[in-house]
Amino acid sequence: MGLKPPSKPESEWQVTYNVHDDYAGRGIGNAMVGVAINLARWLGIKTLTAHTEKGNFASNHILRKNGFVIQSEIMIEWPEHRGGQKEVHEWVIEL
Ligand SMILES: CC(C)(COP(=O)(O)OP(=O)(O)OC[C@H]1O[C@@H](n2cnc3c(N)ncnc32)[C@H](O)[C@@H]1OP(=O)(O)O)[C@@H](O)C(=O)NCCC(=O)NCCS
Repeated sequence: MGLKPPSKPESEWQVTYNVHDDYAGRGIGNAMVGVAINLARWLGIKTLTAHTEKGNFASNHILRKNGFVIQSEIMIEWPEHRGGQKEVHEWVIEL
């Protein structure tokens, strides 16, 4: 789990998280997003964003469950050998 600082003045902090397949489905992803929200609040961050692929149902579910809402849907460039363009949900939560 990580909190990525804004890369440009107009962008926001972003939460990233990753669970090894061997540990999936045990509530770890959900717990990490909860910890990230608490850490962001503690740091005084006002707006937190997250990006997930549209088809990543578990990740989208976790974000919704933790109070994030979809801000927009965007297409991002991805290497052709990894499937080409990806449709991504941009999520946001006001803290
Ligand atoms: C997405 C990811 C973080 C999930 O982690 P996890 O520890 O398995 O997730 P949890 O066990 O905390 O929770 C999974 C939730 O998704 C739900 N879920 C799983 N598959 C689902 C599906 N196909 N449709 C809807 N919900 C689904 C589960 O029921 C569970 O919800 P619940 O607790 O309300 O029952 C993990 O698979 C991962 O690291 N993926 C690759 C990296 C990634 O996608 N990162 C996110 C973007 S930065």
